[in-house]
Amino acid sequence: ATTTRYEAESSPAVCTGTIDSDWTGYSGSGFCNGTNSTGGYAQFTVNAATAGTATLNVRFANGTAAARAASLVVNGTTVQTPSFEATGAWSTWVTKALTVTLNAGANTVRLNPTGAVGLPNVDYLEA
Ligand code: GCU
Repeated sequence: ATTTRYEAESSPAVCTGTIDSDWTGYSGSGFCNGTNSTGGYAQFTVNAATAGTATLNVRFANGTAAARAASLVVNGTTVQTPSFEATGAWSTWVTKALTVTLNAGANTVRLNPTGAVGLPNVDYLEA
């Protein structure tokens, strides 16, 4: 199946925070630096050709020493709570694979941080 890259800085993606470009290694024109609060989310609209299981690859950087946790909300339902580990530097990006069930057509995929520190920096989601 074809993989599509959804950049966090490109509409219809939503970043509750700022689109930054001060750390190297990102794809596209920047990355989502969500507000350091539980309200600082990153949202993507993921299009699926068919309904069923899909792998979401989220590219992120976490330059702190502690993992940052989030709720993965697909079409309004929290389906898992991935933890985004420390990557060693804000310029070190890694990809986390998350398996979800999507509807055919457009799906709303949101990462809602569960801690007051917010999300890691989020570069893109591929699916
Ligand atoms: C630093 C870093 C940001 C990051 C932030 C955070 O300020 O420069 O890119 O988003 O820490 O803790 O989330």
